[in-house]
Amino acid sequence: MKRPGMQQPDPVAFIKANLPISPVPSIPEIRLHTAGPASGLWRLAGRREADPAPYWAYPWAGGAVLARYLLDRPEIVVGRRVLDLGAGSGLVAIAAAKAGAAAVTAVDIDANAIAAIGLNAAINGVDIVARAADIIEDPPPEIDLLVVGDLFYDPTLALRVMAFLRRCQASGIEVLIGDPERAHLPQGELSRIATHAVADFGGGSSGGAVPAGVFSLFGNS
Ligand SMILES: C[S@@+](CC[C@H](N)C(=O)[O-])C[C@H]1O[C@@H](n2cnc3c(N)ncnc32)[C@H](O)[C@@H]1O
Repeated sequence: MKRPGMQQPDPVAFIKANLPISPVPSIPEIRLHTAGPASGLWRLAGRREADPAPYWAYPWAGGAVLARYLLDRPEIVVGRRVLDLGAGSGLVAIAAAKAGAAAVTAVDIDANAIAAIGLNAAINGVDIVARAADIIEDPPPEIDLLVVGDLFYDPTLALRVMAFLRRCQASGIEVLIGDPERAHLPQGELSRIATHAVADFGGGSSGGAVPAGVFSLFGNS
């Protein structure tokens, strides 16, 4: 978001200069530009209430568990068209591409996330189409698998996301959710299909592992 009188840094240059590349805790196959205490992230992301929180600057437990799940079971994605909703850093999209997806799209509402996804895809040697958009009121996209990492942190967003996921499933898309059971995950509507201990944002690079789940919607085959 542009602020009067302030020069916005170029996101690609800012991320390269200030967010070091680190392996994702629990997913050593994937490296990401990750914010640290010295990154001065607010200079890019802003710190007004209206500025989107820079969640893309870290790997989250929901994304990590889904990335681990796809990397360990490539048959789930091989040859399929995959869309990562709320992609953030691109962690799940990168895992899907590394596991052999035919095409991977990463969607996030934050333009800085799109810059980070481009850089992170290149670091990991994969091709991802990254789109800045809010697609959850749109018709279901033309994909085979929709992956959603850690998008149930806000009650209003959680309701909108679930309505979209139900419409996607009804149109024949397989839906997989990764989440460390955050408050607004509608567990009564989901089946748990796997659990892994993964690091969460805020847990530190050396620990802070939490049990996180991979879920499908009831009715998924
Ligand atoms: C907690 S982060 C999770 C990022 C990543 N999936 C992971 O697990 O590491 C949530 C991300 O969802 C994005 N987001 C929020 N609302 C969204 C929407 N309506 N459509 C797409 N992305 C959204 C945020 O900008 C943020 O990057």
